Amino acid sequence: MGHRRWFFKHILKERLLSIILLIFLIVFIGTVSITPLFIGDIFTELAKENSSFKVIVSASLFIAGAGIIRATADFTQSYANEILAHKITKNVTEEFYKGMLEKSQEFHDRVRIGDVMARATYDTRQMNIFISPGIKFLFEGTFTLIFSVSLMIWINPKLTLLLLMGLPIYIVTIRDYNKNLRPISQAQMEQNSILNARLQESVTGIRVIRAFVKEQAEIKEFDRETDKLREINTRRGIISAKYYPVILTFLLITLSFVWGSYEVINGRLGIGELITFVFLMMTLVMPTWQFGWAITQFQIGMAAAKRVYEMKEKKIKLEESPSPEDCRTCEGEIRFEKVSFSYNGKSSRKKSLNNINLDVPGGSTVAIIGNPGSGKSTLIKLLMRLYDPTEGNILIDKIDIKDMRISHLRDHIGVIEQEVFLFSKSIKDNIAYGKPSATKEEIIEVAKLAQAHEFIESFDKGYSTIVGERGVTLSGGQKQRIAIARALLVNPSILILDDASSAIDAETERKIQTAIANVLKDRTTFIITHRLATIKNADLIIVLKDGYLRDSGTHDELILRNIDYRRLFERFSELPPITYQEGN
Ligand SMILES: Nc1ncnc2c1ncn2[C@@H]1O[C@H](COP(=O)(O)OP(=O)(O)OP(=O)(O)O)[C@@H](O)[C@H]1O
Ligand SMILES: [Mg+2]
Repeated sequence: MGHRRWFFKHILKERLLSIILLIFLIVFIGTVSITPLFIGDIFTELAKENSSFKVIVSASLFIAGAGIIRATADFTQSYANEILAHKITKNVTEEFYKGMLEKSQEFHDRVRIGDVMARATYDTRQMNIFISPGIKFLFEGTFTLIFSVSLMIWINPKLTLLLLMGLPIYIVTIRDYNKNLRPISQAQMEQNSILNARLQESVTGIRVIRAFVKEQAEIKEFDRETDKLREINTRRGIISAKYYPVILTFLLITLSFVWGSYEVINGRLGIGELITFVFLMMTLVMPTWQFGWAITQFQIGMAAAKRVYEMKEKKIKLEESPSPEDCRTCEGEIRFEKVSFSYNGKSSRKKSLNNINLDVPGGSTVAIIGNPGSGKSTLIKLLMRLYDPTEGNILIDKIDIKDMRISHLRDHIGVIEQEVFLFSKSIKDNIAYGKPSATKEEIIEVAKLAQAHEFIESFDKGYSTIVGERGVTLSGGQKQRIAIARALLVNPSILILDDASSAIDAETERKIQTAIANVLKDRTTFIITHRLATIKNADLIIVLKDGYLRDSGTHDELILRNIDYRRLFERFSELPPITYQEGN
């Protein structure tokens, strides 16, 4: 389905509203077009030698009556139009949002947040404007043209035909106008996206900007981008002004006045008819201008729909199995079979993981160690199925995770990520994120386990304290303990802790240590850590190097044979002599 069909499908879904809009629009235009007839009648009566005041009053009453109907119809159709626009925009935005949540991790790794924001807000707004008042204007223009021109033909076909000769010029002008405008509208939206992305990055990266005293440079860069947008807007303004079609309509009105008066003088046309004719011409001025505007907005709206639709439709690589299985007991037994992975797809030579084979019995604690970039985080991202391995399989309780329902899989895995993300909500809501039904007692219990209760209570508002955007009001160690509580609350059978923040004071270190120890009980746990005590006590330690699994075993085994592993401990303790060295 193309973006146009997608968009019109949304309009058609609101059939009832569209019909109401159309009916009242027709009533509205009908009353507008009919009024000049009564005005003409008044003048015809006035031109008579013994004009009847009664006829004039009744014609005036008709005008007033038409005015009342017109006002009511106008109000109703405008209202219906506005509701229609908001309903459709709401549906479109929701569909877009849902699309974003369903996208693969790969998509989110690469997309610029500002670009997503621009499409979700500015572009959907453009679609909204096309619907209201765009659609109304399109129909208003069309119906007014049909009604008024029919009446004009009825009054004086020759004069009407003469004036209709202006129509092709009008059509050509509008076509030309739109052709010129199309690339500008596209550029306008793209530039808006760029600006949004820049602004978002500057605000998020403000600390780096400050640290490097780059404020002025950033402002300059931003200025350059806003200048580009201003230039595009100016170009658009010039084009709009150049093609302003009202001039043409007024030229035609003048022409009909001159010609009409000539006809009146020669007795071929009544004065009342001329007045009606000219008034009918006047009813065309606004609608034809608005029609032109709506055509332009249609193009802008379609360009916007294309941008929204394209991003929404971008392929989701992670596919749900057609007949997903659920593990029933969920022992947390994990097996990696010849797993290789590259972030850049199968054909890429740069692999983040190479041929990983691993067996983890349920309930055990696995410590993953390795240099930065050795693939530790990647390994657990595969386990969570944020990405699929480019080769090999991962099994939980003997079921390939590709065959599991993704939501089921993730329900069973709790993660404390390397970069903890907290929502700008209260601490309580953050902890209860995975289980909103949790009671206050449950929340406090997990917070105590995670060694977070004490510092949370020290805040004035305790558990109701709002966490600043991206959790800036909390320290790294505090955020991490809240994340531990959050993961614990859902009581997952597999727990993953990607703990890079080893640079914390001894007291916090001890607390996190206790928190981790509390967490380990009765579940399969993967811990990426530099904490020696944690590593030492793990049931299984795996050593990664450049994406290869270099060694695995217990502390006692590795300390005797693995040089990388020994290095970790060498600095801190007296070690027994080495007896075996793996070839690495
Ligand atoms: N989203 C990504 N897109 C492309 N490459 C990535 C992505 N994330 C990580 N990589 C690459 O994959 C390799 C392994 O990264 P990974 O994050 O797994 O390392 P790590 O062992 O967790 O390191 P650290 O200790 O610094 O957290 C690195 O070479 C990294 O550049
Ligand atoms: Mg990492």
